[in-house]
Amino acid sequence: MRMYDLIMKKRDGGVLRRDEIEYMVREYTADHISDYQMSAMMMAIYFRGMNAEETSALTLAMAHSGEMMDLSAIDGVKVDKHSTGGVGDKTSIALTPMAAACGVKIAKMSGRGLGHTGGTIDKLESFPGFDTSLTSRRFVRQVNEIGVAIMGQTADIAPADKKLYALRDVTATVDQMSLIASSIMSKKLASGADAIVLDVKTGSGAFMKNEEDAFALAKEMVTLGRMAGRKTVAVISDMDQPLGFAVGNALEVREAIQTLRGKGPADFTALCMTLGAQMLIAGGAASDEREAYAMLRHSVEDGSALKKLAAFVEAQGGDPAAVYDTSLLPAASLVREIASDRAGYVSHIDCQEVGICSLLLGGGRETKESVIDLSVGLVLHKKVGDYVAAGESLATIYANDEEKLRQAAERFLRAYRFAVEPPQRGELIKGILS
Ligand code: URA
Repeated sequence: MRMYDLIMKKRDGGVLRRDEIEYMVREYTADHISDYQMSAMMMAIYFRGMNAEETSALTLAMAHSGEMMDLSAIDGVKVDKHSTGGVGDKTSIALTPMAAACGVKIAKMSGRGLGHTGGTIDKLESFPGFDTSLTSRRFVRQVNEIGVAIMGQTADIAPADKKLYALRDVTATVDQMSLIASSIMSKKLASGADAIVLDVKTGSGAFMKNEEDAFALAKEMVTLGRMAGRKTVAVISDMDQPLGFAVGNALEVREAIQTLRGKGPADFTALCMTLGAQMLIAGGAASDEREAYAMLRHSVEDGSALKKLAAFVEAQGGDPAAVYDTSLLPAASLVREIASDRAGYVSHIDCQEVGICSLLLGGGRETKESVIDLSVGLVLHKKVGDYVAAGESLATIYANDEEKLRQAAERFLRAYRFAVEPPQRGELIKGILS
């Protein structure tokens, strides 16, 4: 078999056979296929798509490209959660300790930033010393001991996805439904959890810009999970504007901590409750949404969720003091307000542009080798529906470089649209597929 022939077949609209997909994944993982040929294949798939059989074959080949984790040494139902990616999406940082404080066993594998979106692993590294490269043995022990562990993808778990994820990030081939479904589900299947709660984003800051595509992606992933014998639920949620106010790694960690203190943004808190309820039900800790909501609220009110975050940070080598004193998190040297040059009601925010602003500041990767700056980003003061007077601050920008700050601020201003009348606000939760 030759990679050249497979690229040509897909480029011309053909359907790849299971053995062809297995060959491609195996040889790429072993470094026998070059990045440039795989980039061409990703672009061909981007334009030609894959059918359900191809997507399933790619998912299983990537899941089996490394170790399939055995979590049977952990008692009870192990729950994993994954977002398809968004801007300001710090959900896992607040939600996993909340759910763990309610008795759910969280065994989660997370990714780094992708395209204009942030990644949980990068965000967690804002805690000084935090280690995301756990061995399977340490991962299992930690879930048994404190109820929650989050690891990055090691070279052993779905290594094919790890390589492809980094390649897609820098070749503009992220936002393709089958590639997203197989990337996420291969990791979820390899990391061994019994139940998977998916947060499928839709809107200008998501990879799936329209709701129809987001529902189709959700359906595809739920089917892949079910076929592999995992209880799988998908929540389809809004990403037409950033979630909460903070965008940027350490800034988002601060907002997640505020949320665990009961002082988080309304939209972010509501999403944590919706996803958390699904996790509690899937994990057998609550019998229905009403009970789950009450338990999650209680975990914030009695401080047990915040305590769980500190225990989780400490268990992974991070400084738990940063949970109680967020001045210990990375901080930028330049802090400026971005004043609005117009007045009116905010009618639309190009959420992807806001993500790109954070990336331009250094908060995301431009190449596979880029080192990111955890301290930079933006904190929005105005969201859709808010009234803004001319000269009023739309956001605070955090940077370490004057030129990057200037470019990002200019671009940020162009991401906002205004109207004379207040716009209709969209629903945060578009639907739940289970
Ligand atoms: N998250 C992933 O893990 N993979 C994707 O392709 C997109 C979001």
